[in-house]
Amino acid sequence: MIPLSIPKLEGNEWKYVKDCLDTGWISSAGSYVTQFEEMVAQYAGAKYGVACMNGTVGLHISQILLGVTADDHVITPNITFIATLNAIKYTGATPILIDVDPNNWQMDLNLLEEYLQEHTKIRETESGLFSFDNRTNKRVRAIMPVHVLGNMGDMDRLMAIANTYHLEVIEDTTEALGSTFNNKHAGTFGKLGVFSFNGNKIISTGGGGVIVTDDEELAKKAKHLTTQAKVSAMDYIHDEIGYNYRLVNVLAAIGVAQMEQFPAILENKQTMDAFYRKELNGVGDIKFQEIPEGTSPNGWLFTFSTSRMRELLDYLNANGVQSRPFWMPMNQLDMFKDEFYFHKTDVSASVYDSSISIPSSAGITQEQMETVVSVIKKFYAS
Ligand SMILES: Cc1ncc(COP(=O)(O)O)c(C=O)c1O
Repeated sequence: MIPLSIPKLEGNEWKYVKDCLDTGWISSAGSYVTQFEEMVAQYAGAKYGVACMNGTVGLHISQILLGVTADDHVITPNITFIATLNAIKYTGATPILIDVDPNNWQMDLNLLEEYLQEHTKIRETESGLFSFDNRTNKRVRAIMPVHVLGNMGDMDRLMAIANTYHLEVIEDTTEALGSTFNNKHAGTFGKLGVFSFNGNKIISTGGGGVIVTDDEELAKKAKHLTTQAKVSAMDYIHDEIGYNYRLVNVLAAIGVAQMEQFPAILENKQTMDAFYRKELNGVGDIKFQEIPEGTSPNGWLFTFSTSRMRELLDYLNANGVQSRPFWMPMNQLDMFKDEFYFHKTDVSASVYDSSISIPSSAGITQEQMETVVSVIKKFYAS
């Protein structure tokens, strides 16, 4: 079976993990954590990086850092992996779901603007001007855009909308290490960006995350909160309720080795993306995810749409090509079906009904890609 997305562990992973084991530095302290944080931040062009257990907790902490509480709304696209919504729910906040753009499958910025124009009012409060939802009277505190599949929408426009409506921006950039918009890296537009190093991501630590920011205070607070909010190196004194969300040294060691290989892995992914687009162009009724002008995506997980999605899914999995459907839209999941979902034609439903992801591992070979393409062509020829 050609796997959907597995990591490529062909660098110094063994050496650095062995170093942790040999020296006993396997846990929360250790130099690989700092090194990994610096490597990710530097690559993304952010001033600070704070490692954490995974992307989900990174999204949770980021919201706490910006003051999100149960009295707030957080806006996010209706098509995302469930972790985005779960992280909003952990804070007690109420999500506002925005439908996606039919072409690039990112949050539809026209709808975002329309929601804010029609359903919110800007009011003056003791701490400044903020937007409030007309129905609930709750503050709309933040937008959490998601760079779905490593693609990116028009981030300049999104930031301009956020400024107009006094909203904080936390980027769910879990899938987008290596993606840029107008040469600026994903995760560096908002106050905070969160990368994931889960097993299926472009590079992996098995499980892991890094929060990036240019704000020194936020970075310090992120470190503090993810490490039990301890105030003294010696004494067990803590100044608030913290979290044990830290990344351990042994996983950061894998991360350092993965970051060393990242440029080559990114190049392989982008070559794969170009190959699939060239070879599958015009095959059956395949339609690709559109790449907005100015965006350079990392090609994380190749996904396309076709009216024969379910049939193709069965066919590929039965013929040695591991494939998966897209995420069920958040408004269709039981837990979130009563959340406010702003849409016109429910694009999310049609993207979900027609989209399929095909093998996209970091180390995918030319031979594997050719096999994938030939099995897909065979399906449409039958
Ligand atoms: C869009 C999105 N958000 C959040 C996450 C959560 O990241 P993690 O698995 O590292 O917790 C993931 C990936 O797993 C994701 O794809």
